[in-house]
Amino acid sequence: MSAMIYPTSNFADEHKLCFERAEGVYIYDSNDKKYLEGMSGLWCTALGYGNQELIDAISDQLHTLSFSHLFGGKSHAPAEKLANKLAKMVPVADAHIFFGNSGSDANDTHYKMLRYYFNAIGKPEKRKIITRQRAYHGVTVAAGSLTSLPVNLTHFDAPLDALHILRTDAPHYYSGHQVGESETQFVDRIIGNLEKLILEEGADTIAAMIVEPITGASGVIVPPEGYYEKLQTLLRKHNILIWADEVITGFGRTGNDFGCTTMGIKPDLMTFAKQLSSAYYPISASVIPGFMYDAMIEQTQANGVFGHGYTYSGHPVACAAALKTLEIFERDNLFEKAAVAGRYLHHKLSTLETHPLVGEVRGEGLLAAIELVANKQKESHFKDTKVGTFAQKACEKHGLIVRAVAGNSLALCPPLIITHEQIDEIIDKLSLALEDTLAFTKQHNLLKP
Ligand SMILES: Cc1ncc(COP(=O)(O)O)c(C=O)c1O
Repeated sequence: MSAMIYPTSNFADEHKLCFERAEGVYIYDSNDKKYLEGMSGLWCTALGYGNQELIDAISDQLHTLSFSHLFGGKSHAPAEKLANKLAKMVPVADAHIFFGNSGSDANDTHYKMLRYYFNAIGKPEKRKIITRQRAYHGVTVAAGSLTSLPVNLTHFDAPLDALHILRTDAPHYYSGHQVGESETQFVDRIIGNLEKLILEEGADTIAAMIVEPITGASGVIVPPEGYYEKLQTLLRKHNILIWADEVITGFGRTGNDFGCTTMGIKPDLMTFAKQLSSAYYPISASVIPGFMYDAMIEQTQANGVFGHGYTYSGHPVACAAALKTLEIFERDNLFEKAAVAGRYLHHKLSTLETHPLVGEVRGEGLLAAIELVANKQKESHFKDTKVGTFAQKACEKHGLIVRAVAGNSLALCPPLIITHEQIDEIIDKLSLALEDTLAFTKQHNLLKP
């Protein structure tokens, strides 16, 4: 048995798929079996593996300045350049950027900055955060509490009350609509529930609402038409800030620069990680608007410092990796290419909609999921996650990496550099895996009449 504690894994499950090397969109296990990496690792390796330009940028930075921090009056060029570059890219006025190491810590930073800001402007009671059912925002104490997936909350005794977290409906029409309810009626109902929550709690006690523009770990939920428009009107009416968690959707994933662009969101705060450096080096960014930053200046002066920072905030090597990643995205028009490849992926995935197990195909750009159901006419779900787990393994057997999420949905999130031929390969392998999975459901009597 390994000495390692595996993250987000079943301790009793000793079978591990051990990878040894990777190139482009392909990854090879310890038996040299080749897989198409349909998940960009964990939604992160936008530029695929073995990108020589990134390796060189990282190596050059290691030779020049392998470490320097940003605490108490220190700085360095890679972090300055990256902050200025990001500030120009994001749809946030006079953006200011705080660097961290993971999506989770970036969300914790925002959680703390919101408190710092509202204290600074003399509204300490404006501190509750609204999150949504099925949300995934990471696993640190605050971010993990903003996450709503049972597996991330159960047994951890997260201090939800102390953290003042409120939950509202997940905007998933397919699994959340009532009998006979149209998409518009569904949106109006869940926005109505949110308004009720805001009025009950008091808008003066609510700082922000956090949203993934399109979700990832909860099954790639794309909210219906009109949802974000109505959501933003409501939040603006009540002076509640909009916090977009773009840890998955940032940088071309949905076919535009940001998920906010694809979904028509005008965010106040944004969180980035993953694709920011194409996962060649850990880095995250918490973006706040100028009005928040300006309001905090006096308070940091009074305290001597803004007492929040990580040793590796703005690590020069991570910043060099991110700068090179952004340069390649721009130079190679990768956001537009991802939009084109995304349309092709969804066109091909739609051919699987007639498969008896496929209840819904959803997503935007190079982000997709297919939900496997026990009876597609009645939209009835499997009672546990066995089928999704089997299907993920069946994909692996055929040389394709996907991820079973939200029970029985298979997520796809291939590198942005994927070609049409490689998308065809995904669909071929997925089709074989679906046939294996159908045979498994029949053999175990899992389909519902
Ligand atoms: C939307 C979202 N936010 C935050 C996180 C947490 O990021 P990390 O795993 O880097 O802490 C994730 C990770 O998958 C995510 O999908």
